[in-house]
Amino acid sequence: MNHKLGLIGYPLSHTFSPSYFAEKFTKLNIQNSEYLAYSIDEISKITELFSEGVTGLNVTIPYKEQVIPYLDELSDEAKEVGAVNTIKIIDGRRVGYNTDVHGFKVSLLEQLQDTVVERALILGSGGASKAVRYVLDKLGIKNDIVSRREPYLTYGELNVDIINDHKLIVNTTPLGMYPDVDKCPEIPYEALTKKHFLYDLVYNPEKTLFLRNGESAGSNVKNGSDMLMLQAEKSWEIWTDGY
Ligand SMILES: NC(=O)c1ccc[n+]([C@@H]2O[C@H](COP(=O)([O-])OP(=O)(O)OC[C@H]3O[C@@H](n4cnc5c(N)ncnc54)[C@H](OP(=O)(O)O)[C@@H]3O)[C@@H](O)[C@H]2O)c1
Repeated sequence: MNHKLGLIGYPLSHTFSPSYFAEKFTKLNIQNSEYLAYSIDEISKITELFSEGVTGLNVTIPYKEQVIPYLDELSDEAKEVGAVNTIKIIDGRRVGYNTDVHGFKVSLLEQLQDTVVERALILGSGGASKAVRYVLDKLGIKNDIVSRREPYLTYGELNVDIINDHKLIVNTTPLGMYPDVDKCPEIPYEALTKKHFLYDLVYNPEKTLFLRNGESAGSNVKNGSDMLMLQAEKSWEIWTDGY
């Protein structure tokens, strides 16, 4: 089976997946397969890729929601989350999946180990925030989204009591991502304790300012690199299932 794979998004600078899959193909001696970066400035251009015969795609910012009208079918998870990061084209049918869900769930459970967390704050309300909320709901962890705008809890409303009540804080905003490494979400870091878990979906740099602030307070911290690998492997599993 030849796999003609790729990633769509815009802009696509410093992207991880093409080199990840190139290495994988070399290591496993997978021939006649490719994984390319397609930086498309409008989602409608995805139809050109479909006509060129791609067999699978990953989808990143800003198209995880916009891509849905171009698909024939969604997995149950992608439907419930309302965002797609993986597409498989089989017999001309385009099916959308969300493997961020798997990546976040497995890596979060590894971070929490046996600790039971009752409440979480999710910083940001974009595509990744939806996958994170879906997982937390499934795990029975009550959660509140923090956003720059209503109807959500806003950053200005956060206080020591709210941070105390939410022992898990997940950053789904791009704040602190390279090259803006001196930025971080505006939360009352002074309220963090050893009992807090901070999870940052950002993986570059390895330790964002958000995570470094958590570490200074003795909190348990984790970045997004495990999630990134887990979602990529799950996409590969979907593309190769049945071949
Ligand atoms: N590790 C992984 O596998 C993985 C997977 C998916 C995504 N990610 C990372 O997660 C981040 C978000 O991705 P996404 O797809 O959810 O992007 P997105 O749809 O653009 O959402 C990002 C959200 O962050 C908030 N935000 C954006 N700029 C902000 C700013 N200047 N100040 C405060 N909040 C801001 C916004 O929420 P409000 O408007 O509500 O404030 C926005 O909806 C990216 O850095 C991405 O690389 C990592």
